[in-house]
Amino acid sequence: MFKGLSHVAIAVPDLEKAIERLSITYGLTAGEIFDNPEQGVRLAYVELGNSRIELIAPTRSDGPIATFIEKHPAGGLHHISLNVDSVETALGDLASRDVALIGGGQIGTNAHGDAIAFVHPKSFLGTLLEVEEPPLSAKE
Ligand code: CO
Repeated sequence: MFKGLSHVAIAVPDLEKAIERLSITYGLTAGEIFDNPEQGVRLAYVELGNSRIELIAPTRSDGPIATFIEKHPAGGLHHISLNVDSVETALGDLASRDVALIGGGQIGTNAHGDAIAFVHPKSFLGTLLEVEEPPLSAKE
């Protein structure tokens, strides 16, 4: 079912400061900043060749990332994301194994418009798991 690690996501209180820290201290370069109003976040990716770090910052106070930052003011590991060929197929498969899905298995979209869904931490070793379809260009 899983085709590899898409990214590791770190929630941060301030996206620009996080990008600056990674750049100055670690020589890591973040790309373009994306707005995802649906998820109430702004984000940027640090490309690492075979994987990425996703930096996420809240844009409104009532979303899940804002709640996470309230609990972890300095930021912290928020989720890991694994690629699947089809989110819909993966969710059906996981639900049949009694895996708890966030929002009852609701399919959303990431900043690039790719389908995503989330597995509840209680069903994945205490860690929030995102399942993500690769971009259309990567499927060809
Ligand atoms: Co993600």
